Amino acid sequence: MVFQVKVGIIGGSGLDDPDILENRVETPIKTPYGEPSDVIIQGEIKGVKCALLARHGRKHSIMPTNVNYRANIWALKSIGCTHLIVSTATGSLQEQFKPGQLVVPNDFIDRTTKRAQSFYDGGGDSPVGVCHLPMYPAFHEKTRQVLIDTARELNIDVHTKATIVTIEGPRFSSKAESLMFRQWGGDLINMTTCPEVVLAKEAGLLYGAVAIATDYDCWRDRGENVCVADVLKVFGENVSKVKSILIKSVENIAKQDWESDVCGLKQQVSEGVMGGH
Ligand code: ADE
Repeated sequence: MVFQVKVGIIGGSGLDDPDILENRVETPIKTPYGEPSDVIIQGEIKGVKCALLARHGRKHSIMPTNVNYRANIWALKSIGCTHLIVSTATGSLQEQFKPGQLVVPNDFIDRTTKRAQSFYDGGGDSPVGVCHLPMYPAFHEKTRQVLIDTARELNIDVHTKATIVTIEGPRFSSKAESLMFRQWGGDLINMTTCPEVVLAKEAGLLYGAVAIATDYDCWRDRGENVCVADVLKVFGENVSKVKSILIKSVENIAKQDWESDVCGLKQQVSEGVMGGH
């Protein structure tokens, strides 16, 4: 029997357009960790099963700290997703990542402070044990490669590597912080990749992201400063490219065999659990 994929798509503003799915059904889902950001819209793209979730809710009312990342990932896992492909708006910490350009990141630096990072938290409905999962590689390499190859197929330029610094927010960074993140090797900066990528891995989901660089944060000596209006403007101008990459990637994912990837990750997670049954 052919291994069936199901692709979860987590979108920022502009990507929560349900029209990208055929045969849509709205599914409200409860999880042991509470409610996801919104209903999950299930459907198909070119016959491939998909599920769509707006990370900040469809009205964009949930700030990054308050996104229930665990419920979002748990819900998508519970309906059978094998993959997660997501979009994210990011600031650029390096000259070569120009606002408006797209990036498929491969690593992260976590500067969040207030977010649950594991499903294995000792709670009554949680999986048993404590999970210590390696974070190299942070993103699923073969899924990343599909996103990169799909962008090329569509003649859309993408940077193929970047380290994202995720800050707690909701404020943006000070100049000293921004300069420090550059010294640390950060390429992009946002407020949501952590713990989403971490929890996806713990849930055994193959995770890849397409980032839009929307601004130069505040590190350049040119008097620029990141602001919401610029982020939204540049995001809006480029989101259709991301949308087409994600849609076509669903088709391309379904052309490959993922059984060993899914089984391998499941095995890695079980090896990371101490004190489980
Ligand atoms: N999202 C978009 N631009 C950002 C920035 N400069 N810092 C943090 N998150 C962002």
